[in-house]
Amino acid sequence: MADFMGRHMAQEPQDIPIWDKFFDTCPIKSLIELGTGHGGMTLYFGLQCHKRGVEFYTFDNVQSTDFAMPIEQEIGLAKAFTLIDIFSDEGTTQIKGLIENCPKPLAIFFDNGNKPREWSLFAHLTSPGDFCAVHDWGTEFTESDIGSVAVEQLFVEESDARGPGWKAVWFARV
Ligand SMILES: C[S@@+](CC[C@H](N)C(=O)[O-])C[C@H]1O[C@@H](n2cnc3c(N)ncnc32)[C@H](O)[C@@H]1O
Repeated sequence: MADFMGRHMAQEPQDIPIWDKFFDTCPIKSLIELGTGHGGMTLYFGLQCHKRGVEFYTFDNVQSTDFAMPIEQEIGLAKAFTLIDIFSDEGTTQIKGLIENCPKPLAIFFDNGNKPREWSLFAHLTSPGDFCAVHDWGTEFTESDIGSVAVEQLFVEESDARGPGWKAVWFARV
């Protein structure tokens, strides 16, 4: 879809100002990205988290980036990456443990191959005060996929003002 500082990101550029607002207004202490891809969004997240002292973790079952650019080395991005199948027993256990033990409030960005499955496995483990964001809102992940997880949508006005594309949605756990 676009590049971020030379790395491909599978996000719409129009979502970046909303992510900027997310980081400015949601006081998270940890961020988990499910789905690293080619690392563009990972680099954006890494920079935001580095600046704000937020712990950052990103998971993928394929390594498509080497985190070799000087800026990636400077912020230690390779250490944030775990190569694992998040639906395997080991992957599920690791992510559940992270959700339980990382500093709160926590945010999770669901952007792996199967968003409803990721959500049903992990979203209910977050607590009120945490945040959940999902990519491909309205296409791969819809309102009915939220199930019984208590959430309130954030940034509705900005989200509704976006043009067409593959978009993210942001929720606060309530
Ligand atoms: C849409 S891409 C992620 C894009 C990235 N968040 C970005 O914004 O640039 C989805 C990623 O999920 C990964 N994936 C798919 N199934 C997975 C699984 N079972 N475990 C871990 N990663 C998986 C794919 O390898 C792919 O890189």
